Amino acid sequence: MPPTEPTDTPSPSKAGDAVPRVSDAPGIRFEKVVKRFGSNVVLRELDFTVAPGERVTLIGPSGSGKTTILRLLMTLEKLDDGVIWIGDRPLWHQDKGDGKLVPAGQKHLHEMRKQVGMVFQQFNLFPNMNVRRNLTEGPVRVLGLSKDEANARAQELLELVGLSDKIDDHPARLSGGQQQRVAIARALAMRPKVLLLDEVTSALDPELVVGVQDLLRDIARQTDVTLLCVTHEMHFARDISDRVLMFDQGQIVEEGPPEQIFGSPSEQRTRDFLQAVLAT
Ligand SMILES: Nc1ncnc2c1ncn2[C@@H]1O[C@H](COP(=O)(O)OP(=O)(O)OP(=O)(O)O)[C@@H](O)[C@H]1O
Ligand SMILES: [Mg+2]
Repeated sequence: MPPTEPTDTPSPSKAGDAVPRVSDAPGIRFEKVVKRFGSNVVLRELDFTVAPGERVTLIGPSGSGKTTILRLLMTLEKLDDGVIWIGDRPLWHQDKGDGKLVPAGQKHLHEMRKQVGMVFQQFNLFPNMNVRRNLTEGPVRVLGLSKDEANARAQELLELVGLSDKIDDHPARLSGGQQQRVAIARALAMRPKVLLLDEVTSALDPELVVGVQDLLRDIARQTDVTLLCVTHEMHFARDISDRVLMFDQGQIVEEGPPEQIFGSPSEQRTRDFLQAVLAT
């Protein structure tokens, strides 16, 4: 079944917001998703949803499969079983018209992955390209923008992330914080409807963390993307999320608004995890 919520449904507002956020971005739905690496079953019939425009944070122990969830959404890992929906379309499958899903062809995957953008822990910029080309390569090659259009978009985004003066530099000449800002701008240059953030500040020096987090908060305020974020930064998770999912051993252990998960979690597994994270 496709996600139950139509894509124009207002998403839940963050506690305290007067007006629910309205988004035309698609939601995400994992339906009995299985992912194995050899005999290591990382996702065990995993079910969860992210509503259109909702901001959801995934927390859970190291090695539990959080990055794998994001990489499946980026089509960087292959699905073993189950269905992942983006809006009302399956990511890894095609509906042949009779309701039966068959594995998707390259064209479908290419179309679907245009909707999803990701920022990685280790930035993953193209080291041999300057900042301008890091930002224009995808829009020109994948989206078919003209060079001028892509350049204008790159300039606008570099202004947003405060790095207009670095447009001709190569990534190696930038600090970690600057590289991550470029990586955020590169993801946004594709105008994704779903944005995935994987521990985006954990490779940064402590003094650079706040700046990147503030930037992401601004972006979350200014856009209506559907956001799925993995972080160990509990303050950031609390600020940015409508909902937090505690994930362990291939399944969602508990979910709720950040105030509830961080303030009064109901599962012992969540309490143990939060205690361990806060102790570090
Ligand atoms: N390409 C791969 N080949 C084999 N095993 C893998 C691969 N990628 C991930 N795994 C395994 O899958 C499991 C989940 O890894 P994943 O990177 O998704 O965890 P994580 O929750 O993101 O951890 P962390 O918090 O440390 O980033 C781990 O046991 C890992 O060793
Ligand atoms: Mg990870």
